[in-house]
Amino acid sequence: MKRVYVWTLPTRLFHWLFVAFIIAAWISADEDRWLSIHVALGSALAGLLIFRIIWGIMGPKYSKFSDFNFQISGLKEYIAGIFHPSRHYVGHNPAASYIMIAMFITVGLAIVSGFLVYGIQENRGILAFLHARAFGEMDLFKEVHEFFVNILWVLIALHVSGVLMNRLLHAEDGTLTSIFDGYKNIKSDNVRLSLLQKIVAIIGITGSIVILVYALSVPNNPLVVSHTLHIDYTKEHKLFVNECASCHTLYPPSLLPKQSWVKLMGDLSNHFGDDASLEPADNRSILAYLLAHSAESSKQEMSVKIMQTLQNRDIIAITQTPFWKRTHRHIPIEVFQGDLVKSRANCKACHSDVEQGLIEDNAIRPIAMKV
Ligand code: HEC
Ligand code: HEC
Repeated sequence: MKRVYVWTLPTRLFHWLFVAFIIAAWISADEDRWLSIHVALGSALAGLLIFRIIWGIMGPKYSKFSDFNFQISGLKEYIAGIFHPSRHYVGHNPAASYIMIAMFITVGLAIVSGFLVYGIQENRGILAFLHARAFGEMDLFKEVHEFFVNILWVLIALHVSGVLMNRLLHAEDGTLTSIFDGYKNIKSDNVRLSLLQKIVAIIGITGSIVILVYALSVPNNPLVVSHTLHIDYTKEHKLFVNECASCHTLYPPSLLPKQSWVKLMGDLSNHFGDDASLEPADNRSILAYLLAHSAESSKQEMSVKIMQTLQNRDIIAITQTPFWKRTHRHIPIEVFQGDLVKSRANCKACHSDVEQGLIEDNAIRPIAMKV
């Protein structure tokens, strides 16, 4: 029987890890508090991709880029003969060759743009040094990242439909099963790995898995570390802490614009139904601190977004800002009213770091989700 070994174990392992990491990255993009998992998966994908590029240069015959079929005439011939092919392709057929290369480039661009968003928007990871310079453009980079991800879905759809079509039209080739067992039913030369290829494959594949485990398990590793500093408000302004954290969460000054703080501090005797009035000197001192650190002066994502979406500048409750409402719209009302939280304004029940001036995605407490 004619049978050829086309895809060696490293090529198949690469394929399935690539699939698994991409699916996991897609799922982990769903919730803010999983963002560091998403980034860990992106980092592991970067490792896999680098391995695949090296593999495309020095790997076995059919996995090499030089074996990919990029001639336009070949593509035309392939499409014209799609129902009655004049030849069988042992490695990638011309259409698959283009899709494969496009996929590698797109994943590469998605990873790079992902690290850009992570650095610029979240002030985290290896590109965080760009945050201070480019934070105003955080939305642009996010859109670019999503654009490449959408392209990737199109390519994946094309790839999967190509394989399924091949299965329908030319089941005898065994293309679909070849990615499981490595064999196609075509007469040609088997591939064999040299010692060097084996060593490179072991380093490449295990290296990618090591990157994933490392990024997930080592706290504050460079791939995910935050460069936003925790603020010790007691050191910064003790009076602010004493007066403004006695009844509720200490709200970071960076969560409201100047105008809101002026309004709030101007009417403390009638403060959300409570009397929170202060000595005039204390009031002035706290107000000055609030104004110096208001949302306008902060580069943090939350401050930028609050300012971008604020329409009614008279708002004095953070929970009334459009940004707050939007980011919390998925949380059921029962969660806010439940015994653990009690009020929307009780930020610290869900955000363990809010009183240090941060709202980090990975500091959201699990109770935020419990009804
Ligand atoms: C005597 C108690 C008391 C003191 C002292 C107090 N507050 Fe409040 N504050 C409240 C209450 C009650 C609410 C409404 C909370 C709710 O909706 O659950 C509130 C709400 C707020 C909110 C809006 C929260 C939201 O819904 O987004 C802000 C901002 C705020 N306070 C700032 C301050 C500041 C700044 C100080 C210090 C000058 C201060 N508070 C001192 C009782 C107090
Ligand atoms: C019941 C729990 C809960 C309470 C109370 C709560 N939050 Fe949140 N908050 C969340 C969750 C969950 C998310 C993430 C939403 C998501 O993943 O889209 C979030 C997201 C945010 C974000 C966006 C973070 C980002 O990086 O996108 C900010 C800012 C924020 N909260 C501020 C506050 C402030 C300020 C308060 C208090 C006035 C507050 N939250 C009260 C649960 C809560």
